[in-house]
Amino acid sequence: MTKVQYYTAASLDGFIADADNSLDWLFEVPHSEDDGSRDAFIADIGPLVMGATTYEWIIDRYPEMLSGPERWHEFYDDRPCWVFTHCELTPLSGVEVHFVSGDVRPAYDAMVAARPGRDIWIVGGGDLVGQFDDAGLLDEIHVHLTPVVLGAGAPLLPRRITSSRLRFRGMTHVGQRGQRHPRRVQAGGRRQLSRHPCSSYARATIPVKRATASSPGANGPGRKCGLASPRWTDSHAAQS
Ligand SMILES: NC(=O)c1ccc[n+]([C@@H]2O[C@H](COP(=O)([O-])OP(=O)(O)OC[C@H]3O[C@@H](n4cnc5c(N)ncnc54)[C@H](OP(=O)(O)O)[C@@H]3O)[C@@H](O)[C@H]2O)c1
Repeated sequence: MTKVQYYTAASLDGFIADADNSLDWLFEVPHSEDDGSRDAFIADIGPLVMGATTYEWIIDRYPEMLSGPERWHEFYDDRPCWVFTHCELTPLSGVEVHFVSGDVRPAYDAMVAARPGRDIWIVGGGDLVGQFDDAGLLDEIHVHLTPVVLGAGAPLLPRRITSSRLRFRGMTHVGQRGQRHPRRVQAGGRRQLSRHPCSSYARATIPVKRATASSPGANGPGRKCGLASPRWTDSHAAQS
């Protein structure tokens, strides 16, 4: 059966982007070791699905995606992408991108049909994940928990889902390798560089017992395109 998986990185206080919609804090985290988990995760993935803010963030960061598929392929191979939006967004050159709106279920059916037997990656954001869960279509959460506290921002998953449907399956501490730290310390009268373990992040895998699908389609009231996006403070977030 196709699994719907939310794979993301979050701050300790549960945000996936800061209040300015930035991920600079994430790129600052020392990634001293690649444990191959992303490659292992993406191997079973077919379609990607994301909200408009995530899609626009990707284009802002990698504008070359607008003129050719090379960068997309570098990150995602030839995987197709479904983007939820109320607006007309710019497509990516040479990449299969579907712009959809409203109920997540027709998009889920289309994704399954497009890549039968492959899993689906919800790239972000949190409320879209919540909409999949509302529809009884969320199976797994993979969180890369970073040693960062943001205080505000885009929430990891703005819903109330308790342990009757969530449990930890695994937790891995990634980045144990010692890193040279520039701080000088005095030891036995000699100056030396301190060496201490640098923990990049902890990776948690959390299976989700599917919800009983409730209301037909979590589809917020939209906004006039061209105005500032309400993003995570909009009414989507209130549909728990
Ligand atoms: N930490 C990480 O690893 C990670 C991973 C992914 C994303 N991110 C970041 O996290 C932030 C997430 O942003 P976000 O919380 O605003 O979430 P988002 O899901 O990326 O975007 C939300 C927008 O998607 C559209 N949308 C959502 N559901 C819809 C529906 N059912 N029908 C039509 N349109 C729908 C709406 O846009 P419109 O009404 O404007 O069309 C909504 O404002 C971004 O900054 C992203 O870059 C971080």
